[in-house]
Amino acid sequence: MAEQHSNLRVDVWRGTDTGAFQAFDVPRRLNQTVLDVVTEIQRDQDPTLSYRFACRVGMCGSCAMVVNGRPRWTCRTRVSEVAGPDGALRLEPLRNFTVVKDLAVEMTRFFDKWEKAHGYFEPGARAGQDFAVVPPATAERRAADAAIECIGCGICYSACDVVAWDKDYLGPAALNRAWTLVNDVRDAGDDARLAAVSGDSGCQACHTHMSCTSFCPKAIAPTYSIAGLKRAMLRHALKGAR
Ligand code: SF4
Ligand code: SF4
Ligand code: FES
Repeated sequence: MAEQHSNLRVDVWRGTDTGAFQAFDVPRRLNQTVLDVVTEIQRDQDPTLSYRFACRVGMCGSCAMVVNGRPRWTCRTRVSEVAGPDGALRLEPLRNFTVVKDLAVEMTRFFDKWEKAHGYFEPGARAGQDFAVVPPATAERRAADAAIECIGCGICYSACDVVAWDKDYLGPAALNRAWTLVNDVRDAGDDARLAAVSGDSGCQACHTHMSCTSFCPKAIAPTYSIAGLKRAMLRHALKGAR
């Protein structure tokens, strides 16, 4: 078995969309996460290193980075899962985002696309009535529940080739959110929502690569949500044609 190095050799992106990797040596520690490594570098070696985190427990979605070539949530990624015996770690900002500085990216465009996809609840005329009862076993509730735990981390968006080619593509997270609302029986905004996701930069642009689904840390499958949106669009169009 290869001997495990006691130090990690960590190459960290420094700069914006242009820049270079800077190397740091960081001691390996038991149960260390990748976020722990970045924090240790900032505290002990270079306080100018920029990165984001908030909850440290996989809830806020702010700590995502590219770790050894793959987008991950760094607070829930143990170094032992990703660094080999040589202790090599390569940390980059998420792809398909503008880099603010070092490992921190600009998320505005990503969340603007949620709005463009009508990824918000539309109460309609029923608002103000009594609480809706939505039985957990119904097909709509199950479909919404399967996609609802998104933490907005941007990992799927970073992994999507279509986003890289087409900057206007709404992307897997916004479309996944739209799908949860299409399945929300209390919502009344489907006409506008299905129109919003049906354009050239909507769900028809998805090439079903499955990268979003394979990398999502919350085990959500945006690919299936997008396929569901395509079916819903078709049903909606056929209903309108009658
Ligand atoms: S399945 Fe669609 S949304 Fe997901 S990564 Fe592939 S092209 Fe992008
Ligand atoms: S769908 Fe998954 S990968 Fe995409 S933003 Fe939500 S939690 Fe992150
Ligand atoms: S710090 Fe909140 S998800 Fe990682």
